[in-house]
Amino acid sequence: MSRDLNDVFEAVLDGVVVVDRDGRIEFLNGEACRMLETSAEAARGAPLAEVVADPVFENLLGSVLETGRPAVQDDRSLPRRSAPDLLVDVAASPLWSEKRVPNGVVLTLSDRTIQRSLAERVAERQRLSAYGTIAAGIAHEVRNPLGGIRGAAEILASRTEEPKLRDAAQLIVREVDRIRSLVDDLMVFHQGEVLNLEPTNIHRVLDDVLELLSMDPLASGVELARSFDPSIPDLRADPDRLTQVFLNLGRNALQALEGKGTLTVETRVALDQRLPSSEGTSLLTVQVCLIDDGPGIQPDVLEQLSTPFYTTRRGGTGLGLALSRHWVALHGGALHLESQPGEGTRARVLLPFDGPPEETA
Ligand SMILES: Nc1ncnc2c1ncn2[C@@H]1O[C@H](COP(=O)(O)OP(=O)(O)O)[C@@H](O)[C@H]1O
Ligand SMILES: [Mg+2]
Repeated sequence: MSRDLNDVFEAVLDGVVVVDRDGRIEFLNGEACRMLETSAEAARGAPLAEVVADPVFENLLGSVLETGRPAVQDDRSLPRRSAPDLLVDVAASPLWSEKRVPNGVVLTLSDRTIQRSLAERVAERQRLSAYGTIAAGIAHEVRNPLGGIRGAAEILASRTEEPKLRDAAQLIVREVDRIRSLVDDLMVFHQGEVLNLEPTNIHRVLDDVLELLSMDPLASGVELARSFDPSIPDLRADPDRLTQVFLNLGRNALQALEGKGTLTVETRVALDQRLPSSEGTSLLTVQVCLIDDGPGIQPDVLEQLSTPFYTTRRGGTGLGLALSRHWVALHGGALHLESQPGEGTRARVLLPFDGPPEETA
């Protein structure tokens, strides 16, 4: 049986690059072309350093040619001009001349990007679920006595003639109600594991959210704008949960805007931002952005925002983002906050069209 070696290399899922003793590219397969953003015609004969900017490749090459021993470098970030950076494992092994001198190197590049982003997502889910267990435990303990306290305060309020005492008792009732709604939020981390998935028109959800936001006193003086891609088909999602997610994000934006500026809600099909599926393949996603031109977020604050209870607002609970992340994660999606101080904030929600992969459903 004889096969064309070129066909074999085209079928290999890793990038393969063959470099001669002088560091010039002799051969590269299609996957290597994709990863390095070049074509076989352009790359052949070019110095490797011209095609890959990362000096680590040069160093690997030098060491393999010198020692004749294979070398590997894991987790290299491969910067790219027109596409998101890749995370690759690079292995280099020598090719030998007839006189048993290394006269070339075979580089293989394995794309680890999807695995890494999947691993990050799993880690985040585990973290959220640990918080959820703690939160639900505390919530349960706190919730039980609240009913009793509230009832007792109501009795006091109704039995006393003294205005000061009645005010105090009513204050207790109001504060208990406030704690109870906080506790209910906390329970959601634990109980909110179930989604009611149905074909969902994302624009209908967002129109509802914009309508609710426009009625909020916080919205007075703020322009609410929409930039929708009308071609987006229905997705498999829980419209109630998504409404809550976008309401949380919208309220945060309105609070940051403090009565002036614009909140824009934008949708599009994300071709470049693909979520990894559990099988390691990519999923087509819809991207929803809530963009405000408020004060933005300082980098040290931005870092803390994935922690539940972190808030910079007086009277804030720091649960809005955490709960939103939780619900988006249940959908198999991702929520990112991007911000430059002074240039506003962009909350980006990615949702797979087909709903959560089986493992999270
Ligand atoms: N659009 C935004 N602009 C500026 N800061 C924001 C924005 N969205 C969220 N934040 C910051 O994130 C923090 C946490 O938000 P969140 O989890 O909703 O809790 P809370 O709204 O109760 O403070 C806020 O206190 C605020 O500092
Ligand atoms: Mg909030």
